Amino acid sequence: MYKLDTIISLAKRRGFVFRSSEIYGGLNGCWDYGPLGVELLRNIKEAWWKSMTYRDDIEGLDAAILMHPKTWEASGHTSQFSDPMIDNKSSKGRYRADNLIEEHIERLRRKKKTNLADEIEKSLSEVDELSDYFDIIMKYEIKDPVSGSTDWTEVRNFNLMFKTFVGPVEDTGNAVYLRPETAQGIFVNFKNVLETGRQKVPFGIAQIGKAFRNEINTKNFLFRTREFEQMEMQYFVKPGQEQKWFDYWKEQRWNWFVEYGMKPENLKWKQHDKLAHYANMAVDIEYKFPFGWGEIEGIHSRTDFDLSRHFEYSGKKMEYVDTVNKERYIPYVVETSGGVSRSLMAFLCNAYDEEVVTDDKGKSETRTVLRFHPRLAPVTVAVFPLVNKDGMPETAHKIYKGLQKEYKTAYDKGGAIGRRYRRQDEVGTPFCVTIDGQSLEDETVTIRERDSMAQQRIAIDSISTYISGKLK
Ligand code: GAP
Repeated sequence: MYKLDTIISLAKRRGFVFRSSEIYGGLNGCWDYGPLGVELLRNIKEAWWKSMTYRDDIEGLDAAILMHPKTWEASGHTSQFSDPMIDNKSSKGRYRADNLIEEHIERLRRKKKTNLADEIEKSLSEVDELSDYFDIIMKYEIKDPVSGSTDWTEVRNFNLMFKTFVGPVEDTGNAVYLRPETAQGIFVNFKNVLETGRQKVPFGIAQIGKAFRNEINTKNFLFRTREFEQMEMQYFVKPGQEQKWFDYWKEQRWNWFVEYGMKPENLKWKQHDKLAHYANMAVDIEYKFPFGWGEIEGIHSRTDFDLSRHFEYSGKKMEYVDTVNKERYIPYVVETSGGVSRSLMAFLCNAYDEEVVTDDKGKSETRTVLRFHPRLAPVTVAVFPLVNKDGMPETAHKIYKGLQKEYKTAYDKGGAIGRRYRRQDEVGTPFCVTIDGQSLEDETVTIRERDSMAQQRIAIDSISTYISGKLK
């Protein structure tokens, strides 16, 4: 397992991720995706979009970020979308009370104080009211992780929605929220999509888009941020059939991560002990990050909670009329809800590798390689002239321009060929094409694969077919 700092440093150095507004010192919980990061992000979204919507029973949607404020009353976000917050009076540190306790439990486990860790974990799972968090923190003398102080305030609820105003007047009547999840845009469009898509239950609606949460603590790079993207799909089913579809979507989503190269030993299921107010079944797919296991996607059976509430709050019938069986009902919903940036971070950690390689002359060095699935890799192919003379740059450039029409392609003419391979390995480019003296004589090139480092000669006019074959 490599350190998170090593991966963050590569991500910064090679233009995957930068701190937001870095020249002003950055903005906590916000990140910018650089030239390679944005390609990786788009490839993840594209892979998800194709697997979810290139099928008969799922339609796509792109709803507005700002929604009618009643949406959030109906969904329960106005009253319930909050985290328990606690402040330390001496250090002025502000924490999520549940995270503070969880981190204390983790520390105890590292020190092999298993019984005490189990005891506190049990109390945490039985928390009923805000004051229960406070009681646990005081009873077990949990300290401020920075200052060591135990001088805590009461635990208060902190609503995570960002508020803003529509129009020039900052009046409570004009208040709207930046959506904290994309799901509600799907629920309020249930009827529109059902009718225009001429769908029948069971069917789904998929959406990728930004979500915003004013998290109390942002941490671990892209893991918990205040602005992020979600890839969500709500699958509308007949009540009573939710178990079947819950199992189906669990399998689909796990397989999707594995298909795109996630090592199964880095993934695990986490059962929810406590269910959200809208759910009757919920599991998470967790990834083994360098800092520990963390959720990357949730699969939730949300019953008819959301559609019923929108029916109640809007007065618009959120029913499905089954004309064949002559029945009408409010569908149940099975949701798959993944974070794009969390998935990106998981794919980045999963791909990162260092290995010692020895060249023909017996010289060893460590190569850093991102072993991305070829369809996720930010750059698909790199083209190099072996030397910058004898007509090689001209041929290489022509090949580069041709490949660029189909694939994200890099051109690199700088330095020894070994250095150029290493530069591409470090950003995960799966194929490197080198134009040498022989290329000018017989119209062939060498193509080198990133993981095996094996090279073979192929005809210039078959490069594209070779790559597309590998991408399939
Ligand atoms: N509609 C259900 C829903 O939003 P969630 O578990 O709150 O469920 C779903 O969020 C996914 O969104 C998570 O699995 C995670 O990947 C991502 N996510 C949630 N909060 C996030 C944050 N603060 N930063 C980055 N990703 C986040």
